[in-house]
Amino acid sequence: MAVHRIEMNNVSKSFGGVQALKNVTFKVSPGEIMALVGENGAGKSTLMKILAGAYTKDKGEILVDGKVVEINNPQKGRRLGINIIYQELTIVPDITVAENIFLSNLPAHNGIIQWSKLNQKAEELIQSIGFNINPKIIAGNLSVAHQQIVEICKALSHDARILILDEPTAVLAPSEVKILFKVLKNLKEKEVSIIYISHRLEEVLEIADRVTVLKDGEVTGTGIPKEMGKDNIINLMIGREITDMYPKRDVETGKEIFKIEKLKTDKVENVSFTVRAGEVFGIAGLVGSGRTEIAKAIFGVDPVQTGIIYLKNQPLKNKSPKEAVSKGIGMVPENRKEEGVILDMTVRENITMTTLKSISQLGFIKNRTESSFCQQLVEKLRIKTGSIDVPVNNLSGGNQQKVALAKWFGTNLKLIILDEPTRGIDVGAKVEIYKLINELSRQGLGVIMISSEMTEIIGMCDRAAVMHRGKMAGILEKDDLNEENIMRLAAGEDKNNGKK
Ligand SMILES: Nc1ncnc2c1ncn2[C@@H]1O[C@H](COP(=O)(O)OP(=O)(O)OP(=O)(O)O)[C@@H](O)[C@H]1O
Ligand SMILES: [Mg+2]
Repeated sequence: MAVHRIEMNNVSKSFGGVQALKNVTFKVSPGEIMALVGENGAGKSTLMKILAGAYTKDKGEILVDGKVVEINNPQKGRRLGINIIYQELTIVPDITVAENIFLSNLPAHNGIIQWSKLNQKAEELIQSIGFNINPKIIAGNLSVAHQQIVEICKALSHDARILILDEPTAVLAPSEVKILFKVLKNLKEKEVSIIYISHRLEEVLEIADRVTVLKDGEVTGTGIPKEMGKDNIINLMIGREITDMYPKRDVETGKEIFKIEKLKTDKVENVSFTVRAGEVFGIAGLVGSGRTEIAKAIFGVDPVQTGIIYLKNQPLKNKSPKEAVSKGIGMVPENRKEEGVILDMTVRENITMTTLKSISQLGFIKNRTESSFCQQLVEKLRIKTGSIDVPVNNLSGGNQQKVALAKWFGTNLKLIILDEPTRGIDVGAKVEIYKLINELSRQGLGVIMISSEMTEIIGMCDRAAVMHRGKMAGILEKDDLNEENIMRLAAGEDKNNGKK
């Protein structure tokens, strides 16, 4: 029998009282694309961090090319050809793209770094995978999608024989996903073994040769995705079938609560729409089309050049997020690492940061009230954490996202802006989040939901604006809200004479 490139046998790992992995056996052959799926907190990232040498296992053995190895640190992992692209981007924001790519192996001659060579090599690498990014720009100025591309180049700058991608497509546009898949197929031809973590099962069915399903730290199944089928995989992941992905919302929309008129910032223009109480208003469009920029203008992050924003008929001049919050506007940003949660603060601290006012009476916080409030939210949102007093850092990616949402419950909001609220969230928890959005709507909030997933916009929104290159291309009413119309507007085809 052919030797596996990777063989992990009976691997276990605990964090304090939490057993993240229980006797996991996981094998990947050369040139195989293996998907790894499971609910938030199932143990996917932990298993891969052990393989890459970022975490040490408690028990079990790892074989690379049939030989037992001890991977005690990431350097050792890299020497064995194991490269990992982490779920949370590890870009250093204030150095250039090229420097990021070659961070751990800068091309030097007699100890002197050769900058021109560095930039040239970086450019070649970026172009070889079908992108065009200037290697000399400061990485922090790139869009999240492009930062992800830089991460991939960084992994490819080492001779990767084993490439691990932990939710690489969460921030990519559909066209970029296609390019990434081409890159992966190329690597597969070169016998690179690829481990691919994703919550998007369509992608798994499309790209993976095999899939391994984890549930609560244990393997519940492995096989060929197309043979297993999506429903079966979901069943192995969450132990039940999902019948209603988009739960019904019986809410009468009320009065107009929010209005934006001819908004112009240095990133977007021509944006006008209204949101009523209880309404879920979508903003669709491709990555980079200006969706997040609208959110930033409303929330007081980016300055408004011209145009007016009204909240309950009052013109609103938000100079800062703090001011926006004080007026009753909340936001869950797309990049939770930067703005959504403070990673080294605990779950409790993150949640109470914004809800503090309503829990504290006469200026001091009642500790008991706070604890039970947080505890309730954690249960309601099914946030998987040992306790509310652990740092958010210790939670799995999807559970961190839930904390970013939980922050806003119990505040006196009128409008909440959700930028990609279900990115990195497993299918079961997605439905929970949709229910929560419905609950917010039932409480009379206006909800603005930005999403790259068209099915989510169609399934959840009452109406939606579609952005194209920084301009609003149109608004679709519920009856017109379908993939074809969204795509047409997103691609910049005119609504009336646009049929090509
Ligand atoms: N550094 C850590 N300290 C404490 N607990 C941790 C740590 N890393 C992970 N855990 C716990 O281990 C379990 C598995 O987490 P892991 O990050 O592997 O999940 P995941 O499958 O990658 O989930 P997601 O889809 O949300 O990214 C979770 O219960 C998590 O809270
Ligand atoms: Mg993870």
